[in-house]
Amino acid sequence: MRPRRDQMHMKSAVLLVHFGVSLPDVRKKTIDRLEQLVRAHHPEQTVCSAYTSEMIRRKLARQGIEIPNTDLALQQLADTGVTAVVIQPTHLIAGDEYHKMLDQIEAHRGRFESIRVGRPLMYAPEDYRRMADVLNAAYPCAADAALVLMGHGTGHAINAAYPALCYEFAHRGYEHIFLGTVEGYPDLDDVMQDLSRRAVQTVRLAPLLFVAGDHAQNDMAGDEPDSWKSRLTAAGYRVEPLVIGLGEIEAVQMMYLDHLDAVL
Ligand code: CO
Repeated sequence: MRPRRDQMHMKSAVLLVHFGVSLPDVRKKTIDRLEQLVRAHHPEQTVCSAYTSEMIRRKLARQGIEIPNTDLALQQLADTGVTAVVIQPTHLIAGDEYHKMLDQIEAHRGRFESIRVGRPLMYAPEDYRRMADVLNAAYPCAADAALVLMGHGTGHAINAAYPALCYEFAHRGYEHIFLGTVEGYPDLDDVMQDLSRRAVQTVRLAPLLFVAGDHAQNDMAGDEPDSWKSRLTAAGYRVEPLVIGLGEIEAVQMMYLDHLDAVL
């Protein structure tokens, strides 16, 4: 779309808002990569990132790395004369972190001519359908294998996003894909019950998380007896952990770019 005449001299920016990650190599493959892609697709935009996790921000600050939260990032953009901001979160669902971001945005509405906010990864029905196809294609399974995904889960009502995605797996015939969460519903016990009814020998284990950080490396693929890898191995499965964040998958990066395009 051509900019209207009165928009031609607006200084605009794209702010990507992430939960955050403290591991530099994981950041490179996900957050930095997405920033690069947004710059390549929208060279006219200033592109920057903010984190919603104060815990990760504090951890990085102790290492001398200052990453703004949404509030600080918007202050900085307003101070540099930006008048129009498009904010694209990389949160998977519209949960607590996403709403924390929305609350911080509200306080800055008056400082910009426009602030628009993109949707999280899974929001509209077409997002769930596309996610199911993306995951099915990203992690092919042999006939005796299943894909078990580890989601985060939340006490927020939007935890229903996980069973919604499970519905799309079933509806699209991806009967070999199972999904459990660390802190929500369904959990690993539910997944193991479902697996036991199928002739599965190999379990491909992958995170349904934007970055493969602590949950993926330890709770999912760690060697402790209560990790998902250990529990599935103890139940007799051959387990193949894939420590890959969703943010590393090109088809997922494209979903974020499309969500951004929808509001740009
Ligand atoms: Co957690």
